[in-house]
Amino acid sequence: MGAGAVAAGAAMKTPLLEPAVLAAQDDTGRKIRFVSIGTGIRGCDLLRSARQVTSGVCVGAADLYTMRHTTAKEAYGADIPTTGDYRRFLDSKDVDAVVIATSDHLHRRVTLDAVAAGKDVYCEKPMSHSVADGAEMVAAVQGSKRIFQAGSQRVSSILYAKAREIYASGSLGEVHSIDAQWNRNSPGGAWVYPIPPDASPQTVDWAKFIQDAPARPFDAERFFRWRLFADYSSGLGGDLFVHMLSGIFAITGLNTAPVRAFSSGGLYHFKDGREFPDFLETIYDYPGPNGNIQVHVHCNQNNNDQDERISFFGSTGTLVVTGNSVTFTPQDVTPRFEGYGWNGMTVAQRKQGMEEWKAAHPAPLVPPAAPEVESFTLPRGYNDTADHLAGFYRAINTRQHVVEDEVFGNNAAIGCHMANYSYFHHAVAQWDAAAETIKS
Ligand SMILES: NC(=O)c1ccc[n+]([C@@H]2O[C@H](COP(=O)([O-])OP(=O)(O)OC[C@H]3O[C@@H](n4cnc5c(N)ncnc54)[C@H](O)[C@@H]3O)[C@@H](O)[C@H]2O)c1
Repeated sequence: MGAGAVAAGAAMKTPLLEPAVLAAQDDTGRKIRFVSIGTGIRGCDLLRSARQVTSGVCVGAADLYTMRHTTAKEAYGADIPTTGDYRRFLDSKDVDAVVIATSDHLHRRVTLDAVAAGKDVYCEKPMSHSVADGAEMVAAVQGSKRIFQAGSQRVSSILYAKAREIYASGSLGEVHSIDAQWNRNSPGGAWVYPIPPDASPQTVDWAKFIQDAPARPFDAERFFRWRLFADYSSGLGGDLFVHMLSGIFAITGLNTAPVRAFSSGGLYHFKDGREFPDFLETIYDYPGPNGNIQVHVHCNQNNNDQDERISFFGSTGTLVVTGNSVTFTPQDVTPRFEGYGWNGMTVAQRKQGMEEWKAAHPAPLVPPAAPEVESFTLPRGYNDTADHLAGFYRAINTRQHVVEDEVFGNNAAIGCHMANYSYFHHAVAQWDAAAETIKS
């Protein structure tokens, strides 16, 4: 295989992957002018990353909490206009696109408003808060012919490009088993985020936050820790499963709803009134090219012994993708006489069996090369979000679909909704493709 392969058993070199020049930096297209909608934790990360991508420029930011107008300016490092009402930006002809990083339950509303105003959309993962939201978003994006990109940025990572290349080479043989996990073990990892002391109905536009959610009085915990509550979030499914399912799609080329899903798990530690389990595991059947692929996804918020990793188990090799490395280990499938099965035979039978096996498998003149392990790592400081943004800007200029478009984003999100359906209904979730719904 490619450069960097070493003999199994020898010290393994792990060459650094080479970041391409950010995908759109060298484009001759015009600079994309975007507004940032939702400038909390992720929105600020996106703005910091956007500073690295010169083919786009942020021309405004909207958020429901007044202090986040300041955080947006600090994150982008410029005195951009800010507002509490994103619709003010949508009327402007000087805005090409929106980058949405609101809580999940408002992805649908903001996307629909943006595409109706003729804007292209980058929308954070999970694309949808429900199956119905996703279907509405796909129809609106396709009806308006806008570019849509969902925000699982690993899809644009050079690490995933390397994994995709190895997978597509066929080195793994047939793959029917994929295991994906992402674990954490801290309050922050379980979404117990700080609530700012000045949080109040005066600083937060609560009425806009609970649009499309049940009415209730102002509740700072619900606003700043919305991932704990089903009205706004889909728990571990929408937070972490979606990254792993999107990564699996990007590497294997799968892009569909699962056939069925079965979940187990529980709320074991963070009994703080949250509505989601802190341990969730799901077994999916996905339709693969040679029969189903079983995808096992699990997230634990009470132990992080093994962090982010996706393992692809093939008939001739195993591919493991972690947060910063990709490793291919071939299986040694050289034919050999397997004495174990002959243990219950007489000495004469075993001797005859071995002779027949040797006759059927003459030793090659040149012994086969030792299996080679390949491993690659990301360079320190590599930023996949910057690459994901760059790809989005380029798509706006070229009008070519991105990989993680509305269909991809929707299919990945459906997998998350099926995981939750199974967990909460104590039943196997089945995808009814004709009705576009989940059923038991
Ligand atoms: N891709 C990733 O790695 C990644 C990482 C973290 C979060 N996310 C996603 O990003 C989104 C935001 O997550 P977060 O952790 O930043 O949440 P957050 O609570 O820190 O920030 C959300 C912000 O959205 C604002 N908001 C909500 N509705 C709005 C509206 N109608 N108009 C304007 N602003 C609005 C809120 O005021 C808040 O400041 C979620 O969908 C989450 O799943 C993605």
